[in-house]
Amino acid sequence: MKGLILSGGTGSRLRPLTFTNAKQLIPVANKPVLFRVIESMRDAGITDIGIVVGSTAEKIKDAVGRGGRWDVNIAYIPQDAPLGLAHAVKISQDFIGDDRFVMFLGDNVIQGGISPLISQFAGSDWNSQIVLTRIEDPRQYGVAELGDDGRIIRLVEKPKNPPSDLALVGIYMFDQNIFKAVNAITPSWRGELEITDAIQWLVQNEYAVHPYIHRGWWIDTGKREDMLDANDLVLEELDYEIEGYVDRDSQVGRRVTVQRGAEIINSVVRGPAIIGENTRIVNSYIGPFTSIDHDCLVENSEIEHSMVLENSVIKDIDARIQDSLIGRNVSITCSPIRPKAHKLMLGDNSQVGIL
Ligand code: DAU
Repeated sequence: MKGLILSGGTGSRLRPLTFTNAKQLIPVANKPVLFRVIESMRDAGITDIGIVVGSTAEKIKDAVGRGGRWDVNIAYIPQDAPLGLAHAVKISQDFIGDDRFVMFLGDNVIQGGISPLISQFAGSDWNSQIVLTRIEDPRQYGVAELGDDGRIIRLVEKPKNPPSDLALVGIYMFDQNIFKAVNAITPSWRGELEITDAIQWLVQNEYAVHPYIHRGWWIDTGKREDMLDANDLVLEELDYEIEGYVDRDSQVGRRVTVQRGAEIINSVVRGPAIIGENTRIVNSYIGPFTSIDHDCLVENSEIEHSMVLENSVIKDIDARIQDSLIGRNVSITCSPIRPKAHKLMLGDNSQVGIL
């Protein structure tokens, strides 16, 4: 089987972070979501992977390369505009060839990997397998309605009145018939070729589409809150390891990872948390559910339930920072110069909460 990862799109709901980076490269527990997707494919035995890329193609290519790091072969499939998930499938036909394949959205994080799903589909004669999960309000997702016999009755994309609480997770398995489907459908009200409509076409035309109900957690990392949720869930499951340096005046909890070259000086770190490579935590408090990425400095400050991306500095901040998603190369400091005031330089679409 081959793998197809969708990493185009605009990431507009994660601005300003996505003005300068692809949303699939935002790290969850210090590892980009896209890398987690590649690893889950590799763990399921898939070595030929195509990545659909859009306007952030260069960023993604720079970060991922040809796949040698994971022992997989990566090909890039350029998409001129984000015309929909089914459009992404359409332009990938040459790469897929005659193989069956799994498609994984590059911004989805799922508990437990995909190995069982892949082997189930590989050993079946189904034309497609979709993954569903129960969520309270599925209106912003594709939604499935199943009959009493567990078979799919219909699928709808982002319905105002959902026919059930079963949302479509961004992992799909297909055989060649999906190409007939993506060529048969027309764009939706939002101008996109919807994969949900293509699968509905398969169902209507009596192809075998098997619904798998996923029972662990799953997050589509579309917004800040989703990113923080994904970070919480992944941190809870991390294998904790101290590879960096912790001085004798610091207290580091049991569920804390300190990556290579990191230093914890006279500080308290409560897990679950991860401190990235070459990051320094000095005279500070790092609370639960916090990821600080590589080459950062946190000094004389307190932070919890937050994500701080690479090369950022937080220094001499009196109030505790929490529930925050802080980008790359950010500097949050206290100026010694009067007048005492908040001095901000924020990108477009930034959000700051000041007491
Ligand atoms: O996350 C699951 C949901 O993903 C499903 O429940 C929906 O049925 C499905 O339509 C999709 O909905 P979203 O509106 O959340 O999809 P989004 O536009 O966020 O795109 C998902 C990923 O695919 C993202 O990594 C960007 C990439 N993409 C998106 C489009 C529209 C592409 O590579 N090309 C595209 O044309």
